[in-house]
Amino acid sequence: MMETHFIPNSYSNNLENGQYSWQAPSNIALVKYWGKYGEQLPKNASVSFTLSNCNTKTTLSFEARTLEGFDFEVYLDGKREIGFEPKILKFFERVEVYLPFLKDYKFKIETSNSFPHSSGIASSASGMSALALCLMSIERSLRESEMTDEYFSQKASFLARLGSGSACRSIEGDLIVWGEHSAIDKSSNLFGTKYPLVVHENFKNYQDTILLVDKGEKQVSSTVGHDLMHNHPFAEERFRQAEENLSKLIPIFESGDLSAFIEIVESEALSLHAMMLTSLPYFVLMKPNTLEIINRIWAFRLKSGSKICFTLDAGANVHVLFPEGEKKLVSEFITQELAQFCKNGEFIEDQVGFGAKKI
Ligand code: DP6
Repeated sequence: MMETHFIPNSYSNNLENGQYSWQAPSNIALVKYWGKYGEQLPKNASVSFTLSNCNTKTTLSFEARTLEGFDFEVYLDGKREIGFEPKILKFFERVEVYLPFLKDYKFKIETSNSFPHSSGIASSASGMSALALCLMSIERSLRESEMTDEYFSQKASFLARLGSGSACRSIEGDLIVWGEHSAIDKSSNLFGTKYPLVVHENFKNYQDTILLVDKGEKQVSSTVGHDLMHNHPFAEERFRQAEENLSKLIPIFESGDLSAFIEIVESEALSLHAMMLTSLPYFVLMKPNTLEIINRIWAFRLKSGSKICFTLDAGANVHVLFPEGEKKLVSEFITQELAQFCKNGEFIEDQVGFGAKKI
């Protein structure tokens, strides 16, 4: 499939004004996306759990206009947030060819996150996905009769990707693949697709408790980090490793082998950070408490036989992953032993979710 698949023919309906609202979840990658080319295309395939409680709600209001250029305002929790506008402008410029109505309206984008803004949890995945879905609702109204649900979700994911790569994995659930992989039918670099193969009961309702180690702004943005994969001495090997890890996960998802799952997921998290440690300029996003938590998780696993494990995204926070059946055991461990390493003792209990909802 090509990008041109998402360029619409003319619209048949007229809309003077209106508004749409979507709630879109965050996601946590098991095999990481780190390195891109062209227009937001991934250097390797990735796979993620869609989350549930960590989400963004966005209302997009629109009113017809006849002026030149883009016209929009962004509000976060009811307050104008001009800091977000350059990113949205870039997004509008990128997607205009796929959404030719963008300059016909004045937009108000009202957004709020279920997690605190300063939690260090990236809102770009859930935020871009919620906005892309609102825009797709407008497109659907403009050419109502011809759009299937499959096209709607696929194009929403395609657009979200152009806002932030990992956002394309935040439209549906519960396990989403982004990036072409030879063993995964219909996987694409252009949008996320549902993982199509067998998934064992062990992975149903998987839990993710996010330990908020560092709640500040990221020192190095993901965009800068991705760029540093160009000319990175280990880049090609890393992309190969990620492809292979995804291949290895296929039989693991099928058999429910949690020990094998843990090994891949933790290795992916540490490999991601190893890329940061070995880029030029090099940087470290883990904090002392990140390492303390990792060591405590390892010790607890050894002692208790629990299938708890961790993963990291591009920051210091730790995602603690475990099967639903261990909820009581692991929650106690987190409260008693890990919470002390979080800023103000804060963590967010989440679990696998099933995708965005229209509200
Ligand atoms: C470490 O999707 O935030 O979370 O495409 O530049 O917006 P941009 O980057 P982004 O990168 C996410 C990187 C990651 C790994 C992952 O989610 O796969």
